[in-house]
Amino acid sequence: MKEELKILIEAQYPLIYLMTSEEERAESAISQISQKESEHRRVYIWTVTHGIVEYGQPRQTTQHNTVSPEAAIEWTIRQKEPGIYIFKDLHPFIESPPVNRWLRDAIANFKGDEKIIILMSPIQEIPIELEKDVIVLDFPLPNLKELDEVLSQQLRKAKSRRITTEVREKLLRAALGLTKDEAEKVYRKAQVKAGRLTESEVEIVLSEKKQLIRRNGILEYIEEDETIDAVGGLEELKKWLVQRSNAFTERAREYGLPQPKGMLILGVPGCGKSLIAKTTSRLWGLPILRLDMGRVYDGSMVGRSEANLRNALKTAESISPVILFIDELDKAFAGGTGSADSDGGTSSRIFGSFLTWMQEKTSPVFVMATANRLEKLPGEFLRKGRFDEIFFVDLPNTEERQDIFRIHLKKRRSDINRFDIEQLAKVSEGFSGAEIEQALIAAMYDAFAQDREFTQLDIIAAIKSTLPLSRTMTEQVTALRDWARQRARPASASVAEYQRLEF
Ligand SMILES: Nc1ncnc2c1ncn2[C@@H]1O[C@H](COP(=O)(O)OP(=O)(O)OP(=O)(O)O)[C@@H](O)[C@H]1O
Ligand SMILES: [Mg+2]
Repeated sequence: MKEELKILIEAQYPLIYLMTSEEERAESAISQISQKESEHRRVYIWTVTHGIVEYGQPRQTTQHNTVSPEAAIEWTIRQKEPGIYIFKDLHPFIESPPVNRWLRDAIANFKGDEKIIILMSPIQEIPIELEKDVIVLDFPLPNLKELDEVLSQQLRKAKSRRITTEVREKLLRAALGLTKDEAEKVYRKAQVKAGRLTESEVEIVLSEKKQLIRRNGILEYIEEDETIDAVGGLEELKKWLVQRSNAFTERAREYGLPQPKGMLILGVPGCGKSLIAKTTSRLWGLPILRLDMGRVYDGSMVGRSEANLRNALKTAESISPVILFIDELDKAFAGGTGSADSDGGTSSRIFGSFLTWMQEKTSPVFVMATANRLEKLPGEFLRKGRFDEIFFVDLPNTEERQDIFRIHLKKRRSDINRFDIEQLAKVSEGFSGAEIEQALIAAMYDAFAQDREFTQLDIIAAIKSTLPLSRTMTEQVTALRDWARQRARPASASVAEYQRLEF
């Protein structure tokens, strides 16, 4: 990505929108790029407080009267020498007609001159008039090499003993996904807490990172203790996942395999979609981050939602290989505040940028999305090629229900032989996994209240008194099934028996 910035600068792209909250790092990267050029260009920085100041010079060297954005842009046009002009936080002014016009004049004027304007801002705000002329670029988070500088500095400061390359790499990887400042803070904190920085502090760094990532409210590290064995049935889906356990290894690359992009799991509520997605983390040995789409939406400022999404994706990419879990995708794309029509098109724009990202991403971020209402999902999502596979999770069939009973009974009692699981599976026809679990818990409560152990009969009674979703919402469930059967791959090997079932 930094390469990309270099290419754009060298290619004389006149207007670049660089999205970042790490101004210092970005400025220094730009200055480095300019210095490596054969005829190195001067770098100037505009802020609304100081006007234009040359990079590296004290603020007293302000070019007077360049505090107003219009004057500053005009100043760049008047310059005879080549130059790179960084405008920090121009976004609040960019909609103003004179600023907008001056920018376009500048672009026209720069043709053939070695001049570039870089708009640097943490949020994206581009007026329609400029959309065609500007190229938007995300400034990437620090890579291992950059983090190494931060770590080395911290080690020097603390006069720490030397650490092995292995420990160093672990400490570095633990900080991936953080900004430079954040990494500094995390290393310092770990150092202070433990009085040293060694292998045992990797955990501190990791947990600090998890907190920092959670603080932005959009991404969250998920810890899932269950393994894939806690999921009953869904054999096909499991097989698919197990087959790809090593998909993100070097060996798979050497073998010539492409990296899996993602999967979409559609299905009836309460049948284990979220559960299986979360357990994939353990199965694949990759961290899993939940992207909360509802929180991406932010109506406070134009462009804020887009920036939220970009930042979240950027973080995920820098932590990769990683699983990005988007639960209830259908709800997410209905928008945080309303439908696509009522929020001024924000949700469709967000949706568009998400799809583009999915299409173009090269970093190993595996998207695992779940959904149950299809009519809310834009068709583009379902087109082949977006996801490697779209699975449909149906209500469990008899065998799967046995499996689910067994799993949940075993979780709570060691002597499950006293239950007739075949019978339980039979009477719970039409139940989802979640409903089976709930019936079991209800039975346990009943018996517990009477101060005795729960029995087969308690469970059957609980089942009988439950009205499953497949009965209360027969129409929706049937519609979903009919739709999915034609378009998605079944998650279970055998076709469920209730296709014949009439409620
Ligand atoms: N196939 C299953 N095997 C074992 N347990 C299950 C299964 N399906 C559901 N459960 C139980 O029900 C709980 C809820 O399931 P989960 O959240 O995965 O459903 P879901 O398909 O994501 O539903 P929704 O569409 O409502 O989000 C699980 O945590 C688990 O305890
Ligand atoms: Mg779910």
